[in-house]
Amino acid sequence: MSEIISLTILGGVDKDGTEEAIRSVDISRGEIVGIVGPTGSGKSTLIDDIEQLAQGDTPTGRTILVNGERPDANIRVDPRRKLVAQLSQKMHFLADMTVEEFLQMHARSRGKDAGLVTRVIELANTLTGEPIAPHHHLTALSGGQSRSLMTADIAVISDSPVVLIDEVENAGIKKQEALQLLAGEGKIVVVVTHDPVLALMSSRRIVIRNGGMIDIITTSSQEQDVCCRISEVDNWLMSLRETIRRGDIVEVIV
Ligand SMILES: Nc1ncnc2c1ncn2[C@@H]1O[C@H](COP(=O)(O)OP(=O)(O)OP(=O)(O)O)[C@@H](O)[C@H]1O
Ligand SMILES: [Mg+2]
Repeated sequence: MSEIISLTILGGVDKDGTEEAIRSVDISRGEIVGIVGPTGSGKSTLIDDIEQLAQGDTPTGRTILVNGERPDANIRVDPRRKLVAQLSQKMHFLADMTVEEFLQMHARSRGKDAGLVTRVIELANTLTGEPIAPHHHLTALSGGQSRSLMTADIAVISDSPVVLIDEVENAGIKKQEALQLLAGEGKIVVVVTHDPVLALMSSRRIVIRNGGMIDIITTSSQEQDVCCRISEVDNWLMSLRETIRRGDIVEVIV
């Protein structure tokens, strides 16, 4: 696969058909970009445009360029050349197969070694509470387990240079770890989020309103400091949550 250096989003129209204020966004390798905006504003729609490498052929009229050019048509359809992996907001397994069978099948379709299956399960289990076993059926996994499995699968088997994440914070998994895992080395990561820690972990965030990109905010060093503080509070809350989950009693506030 040719190397991806950059993705460019060329603006289209908002829900009223008015041109988006932001006409062009360049995202480089190694960058995490956030997408923020009210419920129903069009965040997932922007993610979908990137996933499909839209060429003015979606309702928003946006165009996605790869390395500054319109991508080759094969890239949009061949799973082995797939540039984009997506962890989507609505995710349900329909196939009645075991975790191991599913991962083996996915590894084969990507032309990868089936030996990676064990690594995916191990990684997934670092993100979720109740462990996933190879013989578990996909349809019996909990919401958090499914998202953990898909996160690890994207990191190890898909290994696509572009990773799109839609609201991982609601997934009941360790979200910061998941984002760091997916960000990996030199990937382009675009993350839809309402979560202040995740939003501020990104270097820039695109603001969406009424279906259109209205602003891009660069995370300042002040915001990075705020991010560190919130993440301390967040980790503390998470440990409290774990205590409650284990069925223990919360005795002291530290
Ligand atoms: N530019 C646009 N032009 C036309 N329709 C749009 C545009 N952007 C979004 N929509 C439509 O608006 C609706 C809501 O969009 P979307 O699901 O992307 O919102 P969201 O921000 O992801 O919401 P949530 O926070 O609830 O996940 C969808 O039906 C989508 O097709
Ligand atoms: Mg959405």
